[in-house]
Amino acid sequence: MADWWDADGRRHRKQFATAPAAREHEHRETALAHAERASREMKLAARSSAGKRSRQETTADTIEPAKGKLGVMIPGMGAVATTFVAGVEAIRKGLAKPIGSLTQMGTVRLGKRTDGRSPKVKEFVPLAGLEDLVFTGWDIFEDNMYEAASNAGVLDYRLLEQLKPFLSSVKPRAAVFDHNYVKRIDGPNVKKGKTKMDLADQLRDDIRDFRKTSGASRLVTMWCGSTESYIEPTEAHQSVKAFERALRENDEMIAPSMIYAYASLIEGVPFANGAPNLTVDLPVMLELSRKNEAPICGKDFKTGQTLMKTVLAPAFKARLLGLSGWYSTNILGNRDGEVLDDPGSFKTKEESKLGVLEHILQPALYPELYGNIFHKVRINYYPPRGDNKEGWDNIDIFGWLGYPMQIKVDFLCRDSILAAPIVLDLVLFLDLAKRCPALRGLGIQEWLSFYFKSPMTPPGLYPEHDLFIQLMKLKNTLRHLKGEELITHLGLEYYD
Ligand SMILES: NC(=O)c1ccc[n+]([C@@H]2O[C@H](COP(=O)([O-])OP(=O)(O)OC[C@H]3O[C@@H](n4cnc5c(N)ncnc54)[C@H](O)[C@@H]3O)[C@@H](O)[C@H]2O)c1
Repeated sequence: MADWWDADGRRHRKQFATAPAAREHEHRETALAHAERASREMKLAARSSAGKRSRQETTADTIEPAKGKLGVMIPGMGAVATTFVAGVEAIRKGLAKPIGSLTQMGTVRLGKRTDGRSPKVKEFVPLAGLEDLVFTGWDIFEDNMYEAASNAGVLDYRLLEQLKPFLSSVKPRAAVFDHNYVKRIDGPNVKKGKTKMDLADQLRDDIRDFRKTSGASRLVTMWCGSTESYIEPTEAHQSVKAFERALRENDEMIAPSMIYAYASLIEGVPFANGAPNLTVDLPVMLELSRKNEAPICGKDFKTGQTLMKTVLAPAFKARLLGLSGWYSTNILGNRDGEVLDDPGSFKTKEESKLGVLEHILQPALYPELYGNIFHKVRINYYPPRGDNKEGWDNIDIFGWLGYPMQIKVDFLCRDSILAAPIVLDLVLFLDLAKRCPALRGLGIQEWLSFYFKSPMTPPGLYPEHDLFIQLMKLKNTLRHLKGEELITHLGLEYYD
């Protein structure tokens, strides 16, 4: 069955004999609809170019300033969360640099290449400063952030000692947890309630309490919890009404991460999903997000192997090099690796990792090059490595006249070191989105696809996976918000 939306937003549905045929059709029709809509919008824009500038200026003028503290709420205070919070504090104390963070170190080129205008991202758009961030979180274990960071073993103990008083002060609130969704771990710090709605109410109390006690003027929730077992959306996820009924009836298809998402969005708090669980990738959450102007984005941080995949695959497509196989395997020994050793959690991760190639390579458009790819992803739990993951890729490509070649990638990375700057950027950008009238009512923040393995899009719209298209989309969004010209890289004007 294929579903697609035409340029006027009308939904269509058709039966196909095989799933690949349905997907091909869906992609082609969606691409056509987008091309049609883009050309219509370009004509409209050309007609009203005089009015455009003043509308853009209005947008730039209406971004609310980042005044006061920004409260960061993190379900899941494990390796990623503690590396992020410890890192922010280390940077605030001048002990380290925010390497890997676009908001802290990146620039945006404005105007022509000859203009010499490239401000830092954080100077160009009004982002919260690191000194204004305050933190809370939830976990099934009672360890404070100092203890959790020590257990995670990512950061050097000498650095952790210098941050000890601050990290020890961040203690986890009791979690909403269901062992059926994360089978390999269990812990004592868990909320009790008769129904899932009671649990959601307790989370809402936590959110209000944190808002009051921290004095934060704005909040953002960032899911850094374990990967939950694979499930598909059901009737319970289709609307707010159905979801609330399901919460009251303890529907087993409501995962804990969804309860955090519901509590946040109903409180008007933006929510980002760093794991591959459905969580906010559901009609109910989109409805709540738009209604309460609480932006959402996800899913699954794009850190190691998939980051490399979304750099290499666009290069093959750009040069029309064919691909016959891509075998990816990983060994990692942190708690995330242990959770992913469970088949249900692995399936959630696998789905998120597998989608990338098909969307980048577009086999429907290039059947001779990408019509027959063998793509496999494996994750193996291997305790001696801890958080220092090793990701191997064997890539079989073919060139001129079909001659085969191979590429091997061996990425010896540090999972949480790659994830922490992503968390920081998402926190700051989601808060920006909440303060922007042009973004806060949209629901999904597709311009943040840059950070995710499996970026969320509205139904019927395929995601952009190419890292450099994602980066261009992000920076053009910032330019658009500030009323600056978008950069197309056409460049003919330099030769007039
Ligand atoms: N590090 C990376 O590069 C990377 C990349 C992509 C995605 N992720 C995802 O980010 C998440 C965090 O990764 P990590 O390495 O920090 O894992 P981790 O196991 O160290 O931390 C996860 C924490 O979540 C807690 N938790 C589980 N269920 C919970 C619940 N319902 N409520 C509150 N806490 C809960 C666990 O007790 C644990 O402390 C994982 O889902 C992982 O798959 C990580």
